[in-house]
Amino acid sequence: MRIYCEKDYDAMSRRAAAVIASEIIHRPDCVLGLATGSSPEGTYRYLVEWTKQNLLSFRQVRSVNLDEYKGLEPTHDQSYRYFMQSHLFDHVDILPENTRVPDGLTADPAAHCAGYDAYIRSLGYVDLQLLGIGRNGHIGFNEPGDCFVKETHVVDLAESTIDANARFFATRDDVPKQAISMGIGAIMGAKKVLLVASGAEKADAILGTVCGPISPRCPGSILQLHPNVVLVCDEAAGSKLKAAGAAVCG
Ligand code: F6R
Repeated sequence: MRIYCEKDYDAMSRRAAAVIASEIIHRPDCVLGLATGSSPEGTYRYLVEWTKQNLLSFRQVRSVNLDEYKGLEPTHDQSYRYFMQSHLFDHVDILPENTRVPDGLTADPAAHCAGYDAYIRSLGYVDLQLLGIGRNGHIGFNEPGDCFVKETHVVDLAESTIDANARFFATRDDVPKQAISMGIGAIMGAKKVLLVASGAEKADAILGTVCGPISPRCPGSILQLHPNVVLVCDEAAGSKLKAAGAAVCG
């Protein structure tokens, strides 16, 4: 795992965006696995800026998103489809038909999840998977549990995830209790993984991911088994790494 510890959120975002831009420039028709949430917002801002400056083009890029809340319409301002449209897709030249986000309103979740995995397989898996991480170590919405779930699946969100995401909704009761999430199989099938994390509240999850035992109790820890992971964090999120003996580049 290559670890960059940047001074703040903006520097983290710029570094992460540069990793993604490099992928697109070297492979214009790459498949990007994308994440939502506070962590990648700044990364998307840089990608939009560079696209507007004609330094980058998403014209041939295909994307698959990690997850979507169950029960939210794509037009709901807290749905992950809405997030992707407003933070990235509406501002770059990606073709709408080349973007996929799980359908939170599907009438047949099992078939939808199986179809999502089949689509990812048909693309030859993802070239670069962008991940955030939950305070509890979740990646995508693969919450801590007794085992890693390989396939795309419906997940009951952990209470701590509902607490964390309540900041985006009027009340905690409005936060959906379930989501559809890509499984660990598709994430680990990616050729490269880019994990971004910022803030002191992520420090334990990052420590567990990099140095902890590989365990479904901290889903991010599975990334220790992936051959090509870049972690870009800010100083607060990475604050426990050096003391634990992790080799940090920046
Ligand atoms: C979002 C996702 C989640 C988030 C995680 C961190 O698509 O897959 O794993 O990355 O919950 O969220 P933020 O960045 O808002 O702290």
